[in-house]
Amino acid sequence: MKRIAEGRTAEIFQENHESVIKLYRSGFPKEAIIYEYEITKQVASLGISVPRVNQLVEMEGRVGINFEYIEGKPLLQKMAEHPQELDDFSEVLADMHVTLHRCEVPSDERGKPFRKQKEVLAHNIHQAPQLSTDEKHAILQILEALPNGNRVCHGDFHPDNAMVGEKRWIIDWMTGMIGHPAGDIARTLLLFRYGTLPEAAPSHVKDQLQALRDRMGHVYLNYYLAHSNLQMDEIDSWMLPVAAARLTEWIPEEEKEQLRSVIRERLKLK
Ligand SMILES: Nc1ncnc2c1ncn2[C@@H]1O[C@H](COP(=O)(O)OP(=O)(O)O)[C@@H](O)[C@H]1O
Ligand SMILES: [Mg+2]
Repeated sequence: MKRIAEGRTAEIFQENHESVIKLYRSGFPKEAIIYEYEITKQVASLGISVPRVNQLVEMEGRVGINFEYIEGKPLLQKMAEHPQELDDFSEVLADMHVTLHRCEVPSDERGKPFRKQKEVLAHNIHQAPQLSTDEKHAILQILEALPNGNRVCHGDFHPDNAMVGEKRWIIDWMTGMIGHPAGDIARTLLLFRYGTLPEAAPSHVKDQLQALRDRMGHVYLNYYLAHSNLQMDEIDSWMLPVAAARLTEWIPEEEKEQLRSVIRERLKLK
């Protein structure tokens, strides 16, 4: 089988014209893979455009999911290939997010399998080793006061998880949950602002890339605000808990440091 992509957690192999296998690295927690399998099916049943899920598979001791093969490219790749169309692709990204957030989770499905955004964030904030007990307490109180929301949220929405071709598809649902769109957008904005750039890149290249990402974030946000009823201050109120929760992820020290200073600054302003 031909390997067509590689991420931090998995490799993607093309099985044939119709299917791919997303094969997780060995030792990756099986519950998380089963969650991705179940949640992807669930969001498909709500009418969200995702690759069809075929079955769970096991290969050479590794667990994987067999998905429908998608004839398309991630928006990130489109942006790299056609940088002059960066603004258009950033608007497509925002449009996909607006469309996703229109989808309400029906009340009989609000228990399993959907995880709840505020519970997921609170769990991660509790785990963050870089925060003091007082800091955690203050952030958890702020989180507690935020609205719950009943929309489908992706939890990791960025241009590599949005694919376009004749149609548009959102992929990579392991972090999918029910929640408030403002929290989902706050995460996308934090990724544009602080998500780590390739370690090896020289600093002037990093500066140029950062300028492009700031531009994408700006166009994405303006489009989203213009096409929804959300206000910027609603999104802003999620930045602190979302940044704190990200500290528990596998991200480089440099990004953790930046997130910690954002968190400290915001706590001071409270
Ligand atoms: N169903 C699919 N059809 C075609 N390509 C896919 C499919 N799923 C994933 N890919 C490719 O693999 C990449 C990584 O997939 P993803 O599910 O986002 O894994 P990761 O969790 O490693 O980010 C995508 O950006 C895309 O290029
Ligand atoms: Mg991905």
